[in-house]
Amino acid sequence: MITGKMKITDVVKAYPKAIEIFNDFHIDYCCGGNDALEDAVKELGIESNSFIELLNKKLANQAHKSNKEQVLAMERLMEMSIPDLIDYIIDTHHLKERGLLAEIDELINKVFLVHYEHHQEQLIPLHSLFSDLRKELQQHFVKEEKLIFPYMQKNFNGDKGINYVKSLEYEHEAAGNLIKEITACTNDFTAPEDGCTSYRVLFQKLQELVKDVYIHIFIENSLLFQKYEGEI
Ligand SMILES: [Fe+2]
Ligand SMILES: [Fe+2]
Repeated sequence: MITGKMKITDVVKAYPKAIEIFNDFHIDYCCGGNDALEDAVKELGIESNSFIELLNKKLANQAHKSNKEQVLAMERLMEMSIPDLIDYIIDTHHLKERGLLAEIDELINKVFLVHYEHHQEQLIPLHSLFSDLRKELQQHFVKEEKLIFPYMQKNFNGDKGINYVKSLEYEHEAAGNLIKEITACTNDFTAPEDGCTSYRVLFQKLQELVKDVYIHIFIENSLLFQKYEGEI
């Protein structure tokens, strides 16, 4: 049973299906995961008691549907050792997001060229925001894979390790802010009525990327770093 006093990150650990609902309501469970659920809900201008009641009802309804796999995945991740969790993050999220960034990069250039005349007000800022996000993520992945993850696999705790973790959390927050701007710029990934198939596919791929980045950041901030700092 979810209560308003629970930290958002703990809600996701116990009820991974809540991610879908949090995404719909733009509740930040990765960088803002340490906030109490009721505070985050209130900040969005939603009445917290009825939201939490609705959340519990929705999750109870979904419990007998086939969400066992996702629950098991979260349990498995929580039990993983630090080296195994790092391998999982690289093989799953870094790989998928690198592929999506390349696909989106090609698509956005195509859509930009075809729809420049009628949709430049949306496409110019979107192109800049996406370019910034792509650069940030690509540099961040390399920093993790070549510097910080190998360090974490060999050294536990210590000031250097804690500072490394802080620098990654800071970069996650910066990526999260760019994602919020992209979400607003795309009207929550809703392509314009006269947008072609490529326009729609571009928005679908962007949304897919955003969802994956959120889960990825959650796993790093709330599982990997907490394990590394001996919190769980
Ligand atoms: Fe990562
Ligand atoms: Fe990261």
